[in-house]
Amino acid sequence: MAAGPTVASSAATPAAEGAGELNVLHWWTSASERAAANHVAARMAENGLKWVDGAVAGGGGGPAIKVLNERILRRMAPKVAQLNGQSMTEWADMGLLLELDGVAAKRNWSKVMFPQVMAQVTVHGHVVAAPLGIQRINNLYLNKAVFKRLGLDLPNDWDGLERAAAKLRAAGITPVAFSDEPWQVATVFEAMLLSEAGPVLYRRMLEQRDLSAFDDPALERALKRLRNWRNLALPANSALGIAPGERPWTDVVADFAAERAAMMIMGDWARGELGTMGLEGERDFSCKAVPGTAQAHLYSIDTLAMLAGNGGSQADQEKMAELLGSATLQLGYNRIKGSIPVRRDVPVDELDPCAQQSFHLFANPNTPRVPSLVHRMAFGEVGKNAIIETVHRFALDPSQTPAAAQRKLQGLLRALAPKTKASP
Ligand code: BGC
Repeated sequence: MAAGPTVASSAATPAAEGAGELNVLHWWTSASERAAANHVAARMAENGLKWVDGAVAGGGGGPAIKVLNERILRRMAPKVAQLNGQSMTEWADMGLLLELDGVAAKRNWSKVMFPQVMAQVTVHGHVVAAPLGIQRINNLYLNKAVFKRLGLDLPNDWDGLERAAAKLRAAGITPVAFSDEPWQVATVFEAMLLSEAGPVLYRRMLEQRDLSAFDDPALERALKRLRNWRNLALPANSALGIAPGERPWTDVVADFAAERAAMMIMGDWARGELGTMGLEGERDFSCKAVPGTAQAHLYSIDTLAMLAGNGGSQADQEKMAELLGSATLQLGYNRIKGSIPVRRDVPVDELDPCAQQSFHLFANPNTPRVPSLVHRMAFGEVGKNAIIETVHRFALDPSQTPAAAQRKLQGLLRALAPKTKASP
């Protein structure tokens, strides 16, 4: 029978595992994330594998990665871990990840999967993780019921958003759903940076780590935008300007869904969550891009790595990896999660219109695909955390000017050591 994940076993004290059991450390704890993980667990159960759950709460995965590090140091590595992006290289270099070249070759991953996905999971020529889904980050959600009720057109540009915000406020509705949690602030910021800088400059800054790119006035403009946007999240009826607070992302989505706020910038996981609340993309909310970014796809890719050295589990780990990459699992999982399949050959007309849009954009070779900083596509854990912290401090400290924050970011990048050559 298809069993769902067992309730979070403490990640630090894994239960003894039998044949076919794989403990999975991840950070999918919201209703939609949970449902997507349950979907994977059910497909695994059909194939004689058992997903033993090791969920560590905390959006964006900061706490989960800390737990994973601790467990590795204590030689209590889980068999499977959500390990996205650049950290994979560090982990693979230390010999911690099982190479999945055999699975990739058997299932023809290099043909069926998007090249960017394969590039993301390949380290020194070896496939070291199984990709699950691609998220778009630069989404602007507008609550259609609210805009309709107030007789407002859906805005497409920053000026239009500002005008709408003033009217929303006048009607007693907080314009923007927002959280002061550092990773959420920085996720909004990276979409604004893309808006102001455009894909080429964004890449020069965060992918190529070109210090001179940090002199560009686009960075200062993006920081100003972030501050404005956060100001629009102050409660409509508060003259004193109460801060949005460090709330979990699910609370932000709930504010938007319950019409307590009308606009939101967030990655696709928000669409998954809105789905579990009965809201559908394009029917109940628009899935536009953040102004100025419609042609670009600011992405992050969710992947599960198999940890090496789990004597006796390799066959099960490979079986799981194979399943994760299969077309049916890809479709089922991503439909719930809000992301899009990592394969090019999946019938996406079965996904909602927002996902289809994201898929076609990502699949188009002319689309600038831009890696998410916050979600580890451009930096490893340490670098991205340092940048998040700097952006977060600026956002919450009105005495810090955008120009000062720009200099801090440039200094930080200098300290993080620029790359010697541009990535391909
Ligand atoms: C992950 C998503 C997850 C989101 C919120 C991102 O870093 O890629 O899968 O839903 O964080 O926790």
